[in-house]
Amino acid sequence: TWTSGNVVERLVEDVRATVGEDRVICGLSGGVDSSVAAALVQRAVGDQLTCVFVDHGLLREGEAQQVEEDFVAATGVDLVVVDARERFLGALAGVTDPEEKRKAIGREFIRVFEQAARDIVHSHDGTAGQDDHPVKWLVQGTLYPDVVESGGGAGTANIKSHHNVGGLPEDLQFQLIEPLRTLFKDEVRQVGLELGVPEGIVWRQPFPGPGLGIRIVGEVTAERLALLRRADAIARAELAAAGLDRDIWQCPVVLLADVRSVGVQGDGRTYGHPVVLRPVSSEDAMTADWSRVPYDVLARISSRITNEVEDVNRVVLDVTSKPPGTIEWE
Ligand code: XMP
Repeated sequence: TWTSGNVVERLVEDVRATVGEDRVICGLSGGVDSSVAAALVQRAVGDQLTCVFVDHGLLREGEAQQVEEDFVAATGVDLVVVDARERFLGALAGVTDPEEKRKAIGREFIRVFEQAARDIVHSHDGTAGQDDHPVKWLVQGTLYPDVVESGGGAGTANIKSHHNVGGLPEDLQFQLIEPLRTLFKDEVRQVGLELGVPEGIVWRQPFPGPGLGIRIVGEVTAERLALLRRADAIARAELAAAGLDRDIWQCPVVLLADVRSVGVQGDGRTYGHPVVLRPVSSEDAMTADWSRVPYDVLARISSRITNEVEDVNRVVLDVTSKPPGTIEWE
């Protein structure tokens, strides 16, 4: 019979048998899959595992803390945090095309990750030299549907570019451990709970690897990120307060940074930016429908955002299904 306890036991044994005495590295994004995979490998091989969390500055409010504090406290994992915010902002300066943004973010991610892997191995083994093979094993939070989608090749680094910006520098030639590759999302959540992964992480909604960088239509700047982060935090707080977290697949908040509209606030004219709410319901993100969020919840989100976020004077609702719209705007 399927119990999360049995499954954890079996997966832990598998990881131990595979890894032996080797060093293991895991890129943590703060998402469910990478967190549960990391917790599982940690349970199996303890401090042979180092997790790397790259703070690219495109995160939502509270995300870095959730990983740095809650996840570490719950699992005792060895965590390296790389503050790469300046680097990513630099790479995104002047970039407005969505695909170019994705490429720039993916490229920077790989560079930061490679360097972190070298630093880890040198600090643990005292080895020198920049070009030696950093770490043998790389943990990936691949789930069963991902395996099916990518043709089921066992152990191959078959990565959907779309979904693994937080992933994997190909030329590092890590060998992959994918401890969740036989599980579905709901099973992963059960395994996560069994392993003591904080509920705030286990029940998290999907968030794209390129983060807020693909939710600003226009150039990504520090000011725009700050603004979007505020608006996003308000929307998330109100949706959670209304008890809608598990009904809604996710709700991107998108800043139309190159659009301005006239408004009025207090005695004065404003000329600010709109944000778009994009609440969707979905089973697997391949198709989606726009969520019928109750009007009073939308009203609260709208009035709070326009009151509390300077420079945003309009909130609009995206009522497009997927297809034809994608979930994210970029
Ligand atoms: P779209 O916009 O294609 O999104 O309808 C489908 C799902 O995938 C997420 N998404 C990403 N996740 N890296 C990720 O890890 C990405 O580059 C990426 N782009 C989109 C999106 O949030 C939605 O859940």
